[in-house]
Amino acid sequence: MIFATLKIIHLLALVLGAGASLGNVYLLLAKGPADLPAPGLVAALRQWYRLSAFAAIVTLWVTGLLLAVMRYGWVSGFTFNAKLTFATLLLLLIVWLNFMAPGWARRGGPPGYVPALHVAGAVFLVSAVVFAVIAFA
Ligand code: HEM
Repeated sequence: MIFATLKIIHLLALVLGAGASLGNVYLLLAKGPADLPAPGLVAALRQWYRLSAFAAIVTLWVTGLLLAVMRYGWVSGFTFNAKLTFATLLLLLIVWLNFMAPGWARRGGPPGYVPALHVAGAVFLVSAVVFAVIAFA
């Protein structure tokens, strides 16, 4: 029962993180002739995505570590290690973006390379899911 509850929270955190990651990708795709300038709205959305990504990755790590220890002691093998590598890259990226973002907001917005980091983050997330499913199949 505890294991199932933790796994539900693990997967719900994945849903939360996926929403944030895709939201950031949609923001960078939302350029075009029909695009209306709405800097206040975009800044507010960025903040929601950034904070929910942080909540999601912390929850994934806490519940993931508990799941691994409770059921298996630990999990070995290439696919789980690959999943953990992508989860670590995501954690570093999200913590760094959350650390930098308030300063960028004061100076008028994030630097030009940040959209590429959001794409990298989405790739890390998808890769972590793929390796998670293979690891436990
Ligand atoms: C980006 C971060 C993460 C994502 C996207 C993610 C995704 C997933 C997914 C989709 C599953 C379900 C796999 C399946 O049952 O087929 C899963 C299960 C699991 N995850 Fe994660 N996870 C993440 C981080 C972590 C971390 C950091 C750990 C441990 C250190 C972890 C440990 C586990 C364990 C042990 C299970 C399997 C539980 C079982 O036996 O059913 N996860 N994860």
